[in-house]
Amino acid sequence: MKKQFIAGNWKMNLALEEAKCLARKLCDGLSGSDAVDVGVFPSFVYLKDICDIFRGSSVFVGAQNLSMEKSGAFTGEVSGEMLRGIGCTHVIIGHSERRTIYQETDSIINSKIKAALLNDLSPILCVGERQEERDAGKTCEVVEGQLSVGLETLTSEQVKGLTIAYEPIWAIGTGKTATPDQANEVHAFIRKAIRNKYDNGTAQSIRIQYGGSVNSKNAKELLSQLEIDGALVGGASLNAGSFLDIVSDAVRVL
Ligand code: 13P
Repeated sequence: MKKQFIAGNWKMNLALEEAKCLARKLCDGLSGSDAVDVGVFPSFVYLKDICDIFRGSSVFVGAQNLSMEKSGAFTGEVSGEMLRGIGCTHVIIGHSERRTIYQETDSIINSKIKAALLNDLSPILCVGERQEERDAGKTCEVVEGQLSVGLETLTSEQVKGLTIAYEPIWAIGTGKTATPDQANEVHAFIRKAIRNKYDNGTAQSIRIQYGGSVNSKNAKELLSQLEIDGALVGGASLNAGSFLDIVSDAVRVL
């Protein structure tokens, strides 16, 4: 049985004091519980403060993106080494907002995964289809393509440390959640794709999170699905009460 992994993607939200206040509430609310892995992903500019708040706790702090480059003349970019240096342990890579708004391709995402691993950061690789692709029956094809290029030349040892987040684009920020069956089906497909590309041990050790309008009302049913090993939460992670409720739901389905 894998530990569930509940992650909060704060996106480009909150003023500094609000972010610190949220982190302190989570730190208090989560103290002493490590039945579930919990991570928060604030904006780059708050990472150092948030890492300081969670230092010594079991909560992971990670970035929402990183540069695929090591260092140099890349104005506005943040390297894996910089993130590791301030205490980050994780990084979200290939979020659909990065793919669609900032034109990140699967091959850029592949380079970013390698940059993260080189710096000992655990990647959460996001995959997921658009509404039109689902309607056209192409969900598995799209996800398989994202995995195939995204994981190119990675060894099974490297892939074992990865988390994959299945985030159907039509469910992100829309209040429209995939049904537990729909999500479970794609998660099972992702695991099968990893099994085919690597082996059963690798497929079993990877955690697959569901993301897309997860909240304290729908989390329990989603998390109780066999193939769902956690959640990547956007909007509902900005409120300490609702995020802590989702973490408690993950504990309850153990
Ligand atoms: P919402 O939970 O706001 O739909 O966002 C999901 C998401 O994009 C998490 O990365």
